[in-house]
Amino acid sequence: MYKIVKKRYFTESVIEYVIEAPLVTRRCLPGQFVILRVDGDGERIPLTIADYDRERGLVTVLVQSVGYSTMKLAQKNQGDFVEDFAGPLGGHTDLSGFKSVLLVAGGIGSAVILPQAKNRRGAGFRTDAVLGARTAALLPYEDELRTAADNLVVVTDDGSTGGKGFVTDAVKRLIESGRKYDAALAVGSMPMMRAVSELTKIYGIYTLVSMNTIMVDGTGMCGCCRLTVGGEVKYACVDGPEFDGHAVDFDEAINRAAFYKHTERAHICRLTAAAK
Ligand SMILES: Cc1cc2nc3c(=O)[nH]c(=O)nc-3n(C[C@H](O)[C@H](O)[C@H](O)COP(=O)(O)OP(=O)(O)OC[C@H]3O[C@@H](n4cnc5c(N)ncnc54)[C@H](O)[C@@H]3O)c2cc1C
Ligand code: FES
Repeated sequence: MYKIVKKRYFTESVIEYVIEAPLVTRRCLPGQFVILRVDGDGERIPLTIADYDRERGLVTVLVQSVGYSTMKLAQKNQGDFVEDFAGPLGGHTDLSGFKSVLLVAGGIGSAVILPQAKNRRGAGFRTDAVLGARTAALLPYEDELRTAADNLVVVTDDGSTGGKGFVTDAVKRLIESGRKYDAALAVGSMPMMRAVSELTKIYGIYTLVSMNTIMVDGTGMCGCCRLTVGGEVKYACVDGPEFDGHAVDFDEAINRAAFYKHTERAHICRLTAAAK
């Protein structure tokens, strides 16, 4: 069992948890993830390691409540326990070979780019960041990114804060203003990552994307997270989760991600029903 030592709300449905997991912090690195089970009957949900404190054995995750398990997790409070917290899983992200990097996040994608920005700042590399969301309330870690990145551009679809528009508009403006990037990392919904990859391809900027496929075991055995990258079969949990965005077959990945949508929608959630 793993103790929730802190719970912080960004919005009703975007919540940060700090969890005591010393075995995870012993070896984890930015870009890796954990698989959490809320209770003994729980589904396994993959979550990015947004931050960690090795000395105190604490791992931070940022969770958006979108369905059954993430809503069940939202009912847990500081001092409560979750059943499993397995990790670190997947490969870590290493952008240290690139002098100038652009990090791009949609909504809770900020949980993936924040540790990269902090890491790069610590190593003295230049990093710009773009953070976008539908509206101002859905921009977690904006303050933290402003501190960690050399330059942060915020955009919202409705213009409630920052510039009005999509992250691709901001990326295009930065590049066309003369900023030079050796690499980019884009993290968000699959359509967003595809759009950023299509744009950076035009400018010849190597781009990593973090593939949030459906996962079950997280160890390369079940095949759920299969995707095609550069014509080869890959498994997001062990070969990723980050891949070259210019080589990912996004059409296939988006179709596979939607495979259980009908079942998830048809499921009448007792947790949501109780909240009404
Ligand atoms: C490597 C990795 C890292 C992730 N990191 C985070 C994170 O840091 N924070 C976070 O909130 N979420 C993260 N996710 C997504 C998260 O695992 C899912 O949102 C969660 O498993 C949904 O479970 P649920 O039972 O609440 O929703 P479900 O009832 O299973 O699904 C509800 C809706 O969410 C969609 N969905 C289900 N699984 C995913 C998925 N993997 N990605 C996108 N949409 C999905 C379904 O199609 C459905 O529309 C990550 C996924 C991966 C693969
Ligand atoms: S989640 Fe099972 S193979 Fe990747």
